[in-house]
Amino acid sequence: MDLTNRPRRLRTDGVRPLVSETDLRASDLVAPVFVDATADERVPIESMPGHERVPVAESVARVREIAEKGVEAVMVFGVPESKDSEGSRAWADDGVVQRAVSRITDRTDVYVITDVCMCEYTDHGHCGLLEDGAREDPRMTVDNDATLEALGRIAVSHADAGADMVAPSGMMDGMVAAVRAALDAAGHGNLPVMSYAAKYESAFYGPFRDAADGAPAFGDRRHYQMDPANAREATREVRLDVEQGADVLMVKPALPYLDVVAAVRREFDHPVAAYNVSGEYAMLHAAAEKGWLDLEAVAHESLLSIKRAGSDLILTYFAEDVAERL
Ligand code: PBG
Repeated sequence: MDLTNRPRRLRTDGVRPLVSETDLRASDLVAPVFVDATADERVPIESMPGHERVPVAESVARVREIAEKGVEAVMVFGVPESKDSEGSRAWADDGVVQRAVSRITDRTDVYVITDVCMCEYTDHGHCGLLEDGAREDPRMTVDNDATLEALGRIAVSHADAGADMVAPSGMMDGMVAAVRAALDAAGHGNLPVMSYAAKYESAFYGPFRDAADGAPAFGDRRHYQMDPANAREATREVRLDVEQGADVLMVKPALPYLDVVAAVRREFDHPVAAYNVSGEYAMLHAAAEKGWLDLEAVAHESLLSIKRAGSDLILTYFAEDVAERL
């Protein structure tokens, strides 16, 4: 037996940190925040323990709590006071995200990213304007090109409110170009765009749809979000966003799609983000609640794995808990 090579030599306590390949830092993490125009006090989100929807008046306090744990960036989602077929509260100057973002950026130094999408704002819960007849006919879907103009308006309204970065998440073809052009035309040429570039039609978004009240009223999102069966297609999708001017490339969800995170890391030079989504958070909490998993350990290992696969930044509901212990 030839034991010239003994990897265990480098596993003693003294040397392990020296040869560790991946390190997780609080500055890699982005914490999602839900602001709810229909709430006048904080409402816990049952399927996401430790998270809550907060009224606009509490948004600064919520962000300060996150910052105290060492997390310096947030992603803001909004639940509007009312919904309509056009999702018009999504770009209103006095909309829930716009009001919260202007308070947060006025009063804190936290870096504010906004989700640019329509599903929380449309009465049908889809991520854009519907084609005629879509409510009755399952072959019909979201009108891609009509939605682009709305996404541009939403992005500009977030930028005007003070957002530091916008993140279009609707998986419309051409959405990054539309958002980039609208921002540039409105004098926001320096505002970066993080594209939800490879976003899958995933069942792991379940708890988020409770949190942000954005479940589709009929049908599903398979006509615009990616098929979980496809990995090569992700490279094509991401390349299109790069050509359209995306600054940061996101893969979503994270853990079930680490092959895609690794491929995007390999193929492109841009910063890569991964979204460790609501279902990834909820399942670890549920198992921990039963005493089947050590929550702290699996949360840390999950985020470390996402970094090891090649992600530079991670959007995660574990941000506060993990950052606190780093
Ligand atoms: C909006 C959006 C969703 C998520 C982030 N932005 C919902 C969806 O696409 O259905 C999901 C995030 C999560 O599950 O944590 N389109």
